[in-house]
Amino acid sequence: MKEVRFLDKNGKFNIKNPENYSGLYFPVAQNMGIKSAVTPNLGGDCKKNQNAFLLEPVSVENLNNNKGVRNFWCKIEHKDAWSAVGASAKQEYEKFTDKQDDSEITAGFMWQEVTRTSKELKLNAKVLSFAPLHDAVEIMYVTIKNEGDKEVTFTPTAAIPLFARSADNIRDHRHVTSLLHRIYTTDNGVKVKPTLSFDERGHKKNDVTYFVSGFTQDGEKPLDFYPVLDSFIGEGGSLIAPRTISNNTPGLKSGAYIEGKEALGGLHFKNKKLAPNEEYSYIIIMGITESDNVDEIVNKYNNAEKVMSSKHEAEEYWNEQVNVGYHTGDEQFDGFMKWVSFQPFLRRIFGCSFLPHHDYGRGGRGWRDLWQDCLSLLIMDPSGVRQMICDNYGGVRIDGTNATIIGEKQGEFIADRNGIARVWMDHGVWPFLTTKLYIDQTGDVDVLKEKVSYFKDEQMKRGTSLDKKWEPSYGVKQKTEADKIYEGTILEHILLEHLCAFYEVGEHNHIRLRGADWNDALDMAAKNGESVAFTSAYAGNLSSLAELLITLKSKYGWNTITVLEEFNQLVNVDSKVYDSIQDKQNVLENYLSSCGHNVSGNTVELDIEKLAADLNAKAEWIKEHIRQTEWISKGEDGWFNSYYDNNKQPVEGFFPDGVRMMLTGQVFTIMSKTATDEQVASICKTSDKYLYKKDIGGYRLNTDFHEVKLDLGRAFGFAYGEKENGAVFSHMTVMYANALYQRGFVREGYKALTTLSDNAMNFSTSKIYPGVPEYFDASGRGLYHYLTGAASWYMLTFITEVFGVRGELGDLVVSPRLIKNQFDENGVAVLSLMFDNKKFEVTLKNENKLDFDEYHVKGATLDDKEIKFTANKAIISKDLLANLDNNSHHIIVTLGK
Ligand code: G1P
Repeated sequence: MKEVRFLDKNGKFNIKNPENYSGLYFPVAQNMGIKSAVTPNLGGDCKKNQNAFLLEPVSVENLNNNKGVRNFWCKIEHKDAWSAVGASAKQEYEKFTDKQDDSEITAGFMWQEVTRTSKELKLNAKVLSFAPLHDAVEIMYVTIKNEGDKEVTFTPTAAIPLFARSADNIRDHRHVTSLLHRIYTTDNGVKVKPTLSFDERGHKKNDVTYFVSGFTQDGEKPLDFYPVLDSFIGEGGSLIAPRTISNNTPGLKSGAYIEGKEALGGLHFKNKKLAPNEEYSYIIIMGITESDNVDEIVNKYNNAEKVMSSKHEAEEYWNEQVNVGYHTGDEQFDGFMKWVSFQPFLRRIFGCSFLPHHDYGRGGRGWRDLWQDCLSLLIMDPSGVRQMICDNYGGVRIDGTNATIIGEKQGEFIADRNGIARVWMDHGVWPFLTTKLYIDQTGDVDVLKEKVSYFKDEQMKRGTSLDKKWEPSYGVKQKTEADKIYEGTILEHILLEHLCAFYEVGEHNHIRLRGADWNDALDMAAKNGESVAFTSAYAGNLSSLAELLITLKSKYGWNTITVLEEFNQLVNVDSKVYDSIQDKQNVLENYLSSCGHNVSGNTVELDIEKLAADLNAKAEWIKEHIRQTEWISKGEDGWFNSYYDNNKQPVEGFFPDGVRMMLTGQVFTIMSKTATDEQVASICKTSDKYLYKKDIGGYRLNTDFHEVKLDLGRAFGFAYGEKENGAVFSHMTVMYANALYQRGFVREGYKALTTLSDNAMNFSTSKIYPGVPEYFDASGRGLYHYLTGAASWYMLTFITEVFGVRGELGDLVVSPRLIKNQFDENGVAVLSLMFDNKKFEVTLKNENKLDFDEYHVKGATLDDKEIKFTANKAIISKDLLANLDNNSHHIIVTLGK
């Protein structure tokens, strides 16, 4: 039986009894700032940012104990109280007995509705949670229905404890900060405006108001209010059995004012009588505002009609944002892909901080996230991507490293006041991957000529030294000797990221690991660690850069490029230097010394072809060096060592306590074409033998080292099978798949992608709503759901590699590599997406149900007119695209022997 049922093409799904699973949370948010996590029992939290939490901040473990934080009580006349969200002591006690309420969740992008029925009371409750588009509020719309054959009378009460302060105060002065609270009852709710805010910014006058307001479906206001938490629960009471509810105690009227207490949005409505089959709804509006305009906001939602129309508006908006659609032979997979495609929106809103597993950081995004989020935007909303790319390059330093504290505004990078060097050696790899995709999708090579400044702070020489001449008054943009801001082309930024890394090698002549690489948890080998994995990734980029330069010359007539004079030292270096670690370090040192504080500002022209040859030589040198020195083999096993630890030892190989193998080194040696085809085949077999575990999502990040490897990183302090120590870490698994598809290893890539999605959709194991989690633990449970770079990569891989729908310097090509069972029973698969601002539906017809290695492209049409095709791809040229109108267009690619 399928536990997750999809109800439409927009990913709407349904799951029975979600409250029987721990750790489930659903994201509800909008662009006005509200970020909520909502559980099946309406627990979770709600906030605008680190310093403005409406509901108490929660980590995943708290979810078991904060059920019903958004509670809605029905005190039945002459009977017990029943919680419409299933959060009463009695309901909790009756769980897993035959008295348990029947419950189910139905959800779509940014909204969920939990329905429950009490067998005993014959009452049904529907609780819809969503965030309207135009105000910083979350709405809870509760409908109570009498399913019995007798009239029922009940007293409805909403009870929502208001944290109303910074997340910092969850332990730091929790009590003292409640003394700052000023609580008011209005005629429709409770509001809290603390006098001061206490957080990392110091003690400041507070301007933020937190509120809960309520109305009946007909716009009637509550009778009275319970604004104070402790008097609501009663001495010795609790939120799942509040004394006020069982006693049906009258509350305070509007106009009450209380100081210095933990607050409660307690809205006590007048009694309601429901005839058999009759239902009635209540609107609860929870929000945060910086102005004193609560009534103005809540009056926009004060009756059923207004609420439902704002819900429809929000639903349509998010459905439109996710403007890709999938139809394959597996409906579950198609639904899964919808949620994967939605996830990058969530990460842009929630950052990496604001869902229950993501209880770290203060809301910002990191350097990698900036660039990965662009990948999915390029597919779904490419309009702002060019500017985003230009702005983001402003974070690169002249030494090829980059700013790591990223401001709120696009292109805003902040100097670290503590002067701590933070160099993740992989950072230089991602911007080019995104830029390359941008150029392929759009054909806009001119972006490479755009001039952008460089980031400047106290750090210099790739974080190995401090520029004592720099002061905050210098600003965060690199200047020249003439005190002007220096701007170089984006191409120059990319080249510097790669060339500086190329020379920064450790004892085995691979690029130094520094603070860590993609694997943030390899953070204890700064002195001697080396990342073979990302050295090969740099080599792959150097090769594609060289290829791009040649295309710029042959197709676009570029002959030279302009670079900063100092740059010259990094190219045209005798290739003998590449073998010498000392000589390489010297080249780098000379360059870095020449631009430590200011740059000259002088520029020189470089011949583009010579530069391409230079980059190619470097790329080939790296690849050969890795092939020569890092291949591990014994019998049938063969793979690449990915790292050197702080004791200068290779991390992988055959050890007394077993094989040590990591996935990352395999991914990038495959992707960069460092691995030969034979080596790729061996890697696949060896990964299957040591890393693959079908029933927990597939390829794990590493084998069990049985060692807390203090000379490599905190990862090895984690239990084996968790997070960066050997979990099935979706991001790397997806990149493994991507690399395999790139190399033509389709069946192997398919296996990596599908094992992940199958496990994610196997709800009884993964215990997550549809989508790809950051990782699966040793039991196959999905953790850190939603906010993961894996989503962008999964989507990209499926669209550009599996369906093969991608740009090639602005042309649109369709080069499918679906395997047989990815087509439906009629041999059809469909992808709908935007390209060049136009809507396309791409239908693949494989009537004879051939496998990917049996079929070729046999015909291709665009809106019924034939278009160009070769044996493996259909092509719509940039010119043809330019002439298409903005209606929807249909591409059909026929596949046959
Ligand atoms: C997370 C981080 C990402 C990092 C990865 C491995 O991955 O966000 O920057 O590279 O861990 O340490 P994600 O959750 O994005 O898949």
